[in-house]
Amino acid sequence: MTIINGKQIAQDLRKNIKQQVAQLNLKPGLRKPGLAVILVGDDPASKVYVRNKDNACREVGFYAEKINKPADITQVELLAEVEQLNEDSNIDGILVQLPLPAHLDANQIIEAINPAKDVDGFHSENIGKLMQNKPHLRPCTPKGVMTMLATIGIDLMGKDCVVVGASNIVGRPMAMELLNARATVTICNSKTTNLSDKLKNADVIVVAVGIPKFIKGKWIKKGAIVIDVGINRIEENGNFKLVGDVDFNSAEKVAGWITPVPGGVGPMTIATLLENTLTAYQAKEKK
Ligand code: GUN
Repeated sequence: MTIINGKQIAQDLRKNIKQQVAQLNLKPGLRKPGLAVILVGDDPASKVYVRNKDNACREVGFYAEKINKPADITQVELLAEVEQLNEDSNIDGILVQLPLPAHLDANQIIEAINPAKDVDGFHSENIGKLMQNKPHLRPCTPKGVMTMLATIGIDLMGKDCVVVGASNIVGRPMAMELLNARATVTICNSKTTNLSDKLKNADVIVVAVGIPKFIKGKWIKKGAIVIDVGINRIEENGNFKLVGDVDFNSAEKVAGWITPVPGGVGPMTIATLLENTLTAYQAKEKK
């Protein structure tokens, strides 16, 4: 069994992006890639994610704007903020941190982002392109998982892959990524009956349901690749700790490869956001 070191793979990717940015800046008159991150309200987890994204941008030499808005901002005000960033020539990427407060219509906000600046890859135009296997900006977490699998040298063609979870952010685009790599894909969710039956022949399992230790080692085929997207904060013996959606202790005994939590998929998401921002910048500068 090998633990997939997402932290290391992400660090290498970030180093590569930093080098590409350094090369851009050698040419006079060129502006830096720019990312704007909007945070609405003060959810503690979202605040940490946004701070990490902002810091990662600066570290690779991007221009970064962190925009904090109060939890009671109106839909119209938030749409106006997005519109302003759509028009801002220093901004290549716009990210609205999710979830948004319940009174806001997240889907309408996402659709208001210029698809060319949609570095999350959530706009229907970018999701549509992914579905047609003509992707441009691809959702960060699934794309980061694909980078991980490529880095450890997995050829997905013809492999049996099971995605557990069907969210717009992870499960659905993840299934499309695997299909685009010519794998055979089964999409399950936390309510799937006889989930262990679906998993038992899987060569690759990707889990994103947000339920701590949901997938048990005894459901997994010997030698399978197990990718755990979950990040759950739980209390165990009086201490808080982060665990994934996979029961790591039992799964590591049967898996061929497995991602840890933390230090697996998480760091890949931010590194991929930087990659997408550079892609958006390059597409814009080429025009
Ligand atoms: N919330 C959890 N994951 C994500 C993500 O990838 N992008 C955004 N914008 N919000 C998130």
